[in-house]
Amino acid sequence: MDVCLSSEQPPLHLQDAPRTPSGRFEPAPAAEGAPREEEEGTGGTPGDTNNMDPSLHGLQQFVPTDYESYTQEHYLFAGAKIVIQESIESYGAVVWPGATALCQYLEEHSEELNLQDAKVLEIGAGPGLVSIVASLLGAQVTATDLPDVLGNLQYNLLKNTLKRSAHLPEVRELVWGESLEQHFPRSAFYYDYILASDVVYHHYFLDKLLATMAHLCQPGTVLLWANKFRFSTDYDFLEKFKQVFDTTLVAEFPESSVKVFQGILKWD
Ligand SMILES: C[S@@+](CC[C@H](N)C(=O)[O-])C[C@H]1O[C@@H](n2cnc3c(N)ncnc32)[C@H](O)[C@@H]1O
Repeated sequence: MDVCLSSEQPPLHLQDAPRTPSGRFEPAPAAEGAPREEEEGTGGTPGDTNNMDPSLHGLQQFVPTDYESYTQEHYLFAGAKIVIQESIESYGAVVWPGATALCQYLEEHSEELNLQDAKVLEIGAGPGLVSIVASLLGAQVTATDLPDVLGNLQYNLLKNTLKRSAHLPEVRELVWGESLEQHFPRSAFYYDYILASDVVYHHYFLDKLLATMAHLCQPGTVLLWANKFRFSTDYDFLEKFKQVFDTTLVAEFPESSVKVFQGILKWD
């Protein structure tokens, strides 16, 4: 997996923190007596909701994911400092390169994408960076993933969007290809954007993933899919994707081998 983890102290002054091309920024050492990151926002110690603002307990639908060890990564998107609680114990608990690329794309194109109040659903949201950035840019976000990563996902979403976003993001279970019409009936759900980052890699659910992407799209829906291309199977998926979606390559990040595609479902 092409992710690099660090667990430095958070910066004292955001403006002093240099931002890397991936959106991750390098924290400066905290001054003595400065508040620690854990004392800011809604969070306490990682994974712990006991220190959370009492008004938030009702929102906590998912138990914190029980990973042995956590680290915190710092990002800077949409003018906000974002802290993501990660664990290397799950693919769904680390930020992948497609996520930072998609965040950069959303940030740079926020006006033309018109994300303000847009209805957005992310599939395979993992630790939630893309959903957080879409929410900070004004969208009404539903972040989805497998059940076991939802606790950490919700923790990160709350910590980074509460009192910052106009619409508090929602977290829902969505297993690719499973009971889609039951849980996300097309007659009841409409999304302006479906977002997906690094959902294509070496796994057995690629056909179910493509069926899920198609199910969630209706006329007017734009799917934005960012992926690091590593394996020949990634390109095989792209060919199948092109059969189902009118596909445009909208951005490329050669330094990370990430491509961002826009897909519009074919209706003929
Ligand atoms: C490589 S991670 C990418 C996470 C995040 N999108 C990012 O780019 O940082 C793939 C994500 O897809 C989710 N996933 C894998 N198989 C899935 C399935 N069958 N149904 C739903 N989500 C799945 C994983 O839990 C994980 O969060």
